[in-house]
Amino acid sequence: MIVDVKDMLKKAREGGYAVGAFNTVNLETTRAIIDTAKELSSPVIVQMTEKTFDYAGGRAIFHLVKHIAEYYAPEIPIGIHLDHGKSFEAVERAMEIGFQSVMYDGSRKEYVDNLMMTKKIVEIAHKKGISVQAELGNVPYLGEMQMETIDWGKYMTDIGQVEEFVKETGVDTLAVAIGNAHGFFRERKEPDYERLSAIAAKVDLPLVLHGASDWNNGRVTEVIKRGISCFNVDTAVRIAFIGGLRVALAAEEETDLRKVMGSARSHAANAVKEKILAFGSAGKA
Ligand code: G3H
Ligand code: 13P
Ligand code: ZN
Repeated sequence: MIVDVKDMLKKAREGGYAVGAFNTVNLETTRAIIDTAKELSSPVIVQMTEKTFDYAGGRAIFHLVKHIAEYYAPEIPIGIHLDHGKSFEAVERAMEIGFQSVMYDGSRKEYVDNLMMTKKIVEIAHKKGISVQAELGNVPYLGEMQMETIDWGKYMTDIGQVEEFVKETGVDTLAVAIGNAHGFFRERKEPDYERLSAIAAKVDLPLVLHGASDWNNGRVTEVIKRGISCFNVDTAVRIAFIGGLRVALAAEEETDLRKVMGSARSHAANAVKEKILAFGSAGKA
């Protein structure tokens, strides 16, 4: 059952758990995510980026996810979300396709430009009943900079801006930067837990953590306690998927593509399961 992401995450916040927002690029990843959520009776978010729109076709991947969710898991609350919409046009396209939840990622822009564009998108989205996630601060990507010399202070969410940003934009959920980084690599030695608590004390909306799919369970539990209601997960599932492909391809005689892709799908499903269990959302559907 397709549900409102904002309501799903509010429920998670109240229940003391987090929901996984898993990136998909194809049928196999989508089935791995939705089938695992169903197996564990867990709410889940399936999300796609602009790059995946280019790869699969925005309409094609959206309807694939929607049909799988509605037909194979009608009893499971599922959100379908645009991840990292980097421009007004990208978000507009997703809304036109039918996404009920979108992220506008203005994190690379100056604060005021991020605020103004987020506000404009929220105004349009809310008229259509669509939820909007924004990012304040900046969650860096693997390969973007030298992680050894990174000045984390420049990336972190500014506590002084949070209240104004949320109030002015009317955004529904907020991605925060507390030392997290996209991809599997050296993040900040310790997340800035105090900063997260300070953000959560200032605003009353679900907080989202990107780039933490390599975090251990101790960190995961700690940030949920301090206000995180949603974890974006891409790399952990991608790596598992590729591992599954390698296993299947090592069997030289294998020519059945369904077996090769099926191996990838089941490895990806194991990674999804591990995350759902760590987030505490199993049994919350
Ligand atoms: O944070 C974004 C995800 O890692 C997916 O990135 O689909 O743009 O490669 P991409
Ligand atoms: P990872 O690639 O580190 O799992 O982060 C995923 C993410 O933030 C997607 O928006
Ligand atoms: Zn992200």
